[in-house]
Amino acid sequence: MNLILLGPPGAGKGTQAKMMVEEFCIPQISTGDILRAEVTSSSELGRKAKAYMDAGDLVPDDLILKMVKSRLAQKDCAEGFILDGFPRTIPQAEGLKSLLSELSKKLDGVVSIEVEDEELVKRLTSRWISKSTGKIYNMLFDPPPRDLIDSGDVYQRDDDKEATVRNRLQVYKKKTEPLINYYKRSGLLLSIPGSGEPGEVFACLKKTLYDKGL
Ligand code: AP5
Repeated sequence: MNLILLGPPGAGKGTQAKMMVEEFCIPQISTGDILRAEVTSSSELGRKAKAYMDAGDLVPDDLILKMVKSRLAQKDCAEGFILDGFPRTIPQAEGLKSLLSELSKKLDGVVSIEVEDEELVKRLTSRWISKSTGKIYNMLFDPPPRDLIDSGDVYQRDDDKEATVRNRLQVYKKKTEPLINYYKRSGLLLSIPGSGEPGEVFACLKKTLYDKGL
């Protein structure tokens, strides 16, 4: 199953992708996670990407497409993949189309997770992540265990400050939201509400895929 998870920052793409990895045994490909790892290792790509990410702007399409091309060619994508946070622009979607055709693969669906803006700001400014497991927590809805806080295992992302979050939402509306109509036109769009509990959203996601025959 080859899927895209589409949605604004904080919609729960990462949270849902992790549940899908468990359920469907296919890898999550998060361009945000790959970029953060490149920044941490101070690679050439990481150095180029950092300023864009810190400001909440998009990293240039050519860098992203090169990165996704090498990731999709890896063996663990043979049975399927979940693209989380990619594509984010029309040129990236067009690039993905060519890339999949080169690899003789096709997209099965694009799941768009829908959540109101103020809820997104609330979620992101209270998100904490575990360094050791990658698990995503939320101080308001799903706080990390006390021992993880005390040991310094959980951290907040630099781009989760409110001003940067608001810029990320503007960038989403301008550059990424047009992909909803783009994929609607190709018959691949599957929209789900993302405002319930993560487990409820996941149940709805699975039902939507099942109803589509996936
Ligand atoms: P990226 O890391 O992809 O960030 P994003 O898309 O902004 O998404 P987030 O990770 O912030 O949110 P999410 O939807 O995954 O939500 P999550 O599950 O964590 O990108 C970061 C940066 O990298 C970009 O700004 C850009 O600079 C660059 N970049 C990445 N990809 C790029 C690309 N393709 N092109 C160009 N640049 C790119 O949940 C958020 C919080 O909400 C958590 O605390 C969670 O516990 C909580 N939560 C989740 N679900 C629920 C729920 N149902 N109810 C209550 N709380 C919930």
